[in-house]
Amino acid sequence: MKVINNPNKSPLASVERDQRVSEPGFGKYYTDNMVIAQWSEVDGWQDAELKAYGPLTLDPATMVFHYGQEVFEGMKAYSQPDGGISLFRPEANAKRFAKSAARIALPEMPVDFFVKTVEELVKQEKGWVPKKIGESLYLRPFLIATEVGLGVRPSNHATYVLIATPAAAYFNAAKAVTVWISTEYVRAALGGTGEAKCGGNYAASLLAQKQAAQEGCDQVAYIDAKERKWVEEMGGMNLYFIKGSGKDATIMTPKLTGTLLPGITRDSILTLAKDLGYKTEESMISIDQWRDGVKSGEITEIFACGTAAVISAVGAAKSAQGTWQTGDGKPGVITNEIRAALLAIQHGTAPDKHGWNKRVI
Ligand code: PLP
Ligand code: COI
Repeated sequence: MKVINNPNKSPLASVERDQRVSEPGFGKYYTDNMVIAQWSEVDGWQDAELKAYGPLTLDPATMVFHYGQEVFEGMKAYSQPDGGISLFRPEANAKRFAKSAARIALPEMPVDFFVKTVEELVKQEKGWVPKKIGESLYLRPFLIATEVGLGVRPSNHATYVLIATPAAAYFNAAKAVTVWISTEYVRAALGGTGEAKCGGNYAASLLAQKQAAQEGCDQVAYIDAKERKWVEEMGGMNLYFIKGSGKDATIMTPKLTGTLLPGITRDSILTLAKDLGYKTEESMISIDQWRDGVKSGEITEIFACGTAAVISAVGAAKSAQGTWQTGDGKPGVITNEIRAALLAIQHGTAPDKHGWNKRVI
């Protein structure tokens, strides 16, 4: 499968584009082009087309509108010191995209084809990639069920779309976020779709997110559905807990039990923390251990991580049982160290020992 290049003939004037790229926000502006590919049960995947960004026209009976059969990815292209552009671990996103699709009976897109579409769009939109450290071109590939019909069955037609938006930090890195630990709503249960990056998981999280905002919190931390005590992840990020300080610190993250999204940032940090000389651990942490740990000082720092947010310190947690602050409530030393180390690899200012960067130009 190839990508047929049929780019926008009247892209945004470069002065205006540069203005948008200089203050990108997150998801505020979209680039001049997108990529679309079709799949059908009969013909399989068809060649993709890179074309002008614009609305999709769909029949109101298109299945995705009714049963939510949709998966997506989030990944970034970073500008490099020599003016080139690299993607960060795109094959990992491609593999997760295929796995997510399989979980909700959508077709698996071949890894090479997925990566090719992303590379082609980034090449086309090179003028849209911000240059500042911590900024990037955020790529949003998604796959929707496009059979027209109302019967509840796996769609025999699917449409892949890839869009791009210049992105600054999702959260202000200098500020720690506050999380609401939801004891009322769960994000995912064993046997469900927690491991898949499907839109339905996010729809299910929005009411808790609204509650968090009412409680003055930025994000929601979810606990497990069965025992209702084990900390899993946030609505759009994985969590890390740091025990101890200095080089004796242990960097711990909740283990992947089948209900958490296996974050690519999470996975990268497990390797990076070891490179920086820290011990790492994938285990379980209960809300009581979180509360007692920050109170006793055993837990010194907490952070959330994901593609959009990179790394954000968690300054305080609030739940029906009260509020607990982490350390002095500000981003900690190790959190900042890991964040800087990760960004340095992504932006090509530190050696890429693990071959994570894929050069596009
Ligand atoms: N958990 C959830 C629910 C997410 O939506 C995301 C974001 O993609 C993550 C974790 C972090 O994953 P990644 O680091 O691959 O972006
Ligand atoms: C990402 O980090 O890419 C995400 O998908 C999180 C959120 C924006 C949904």
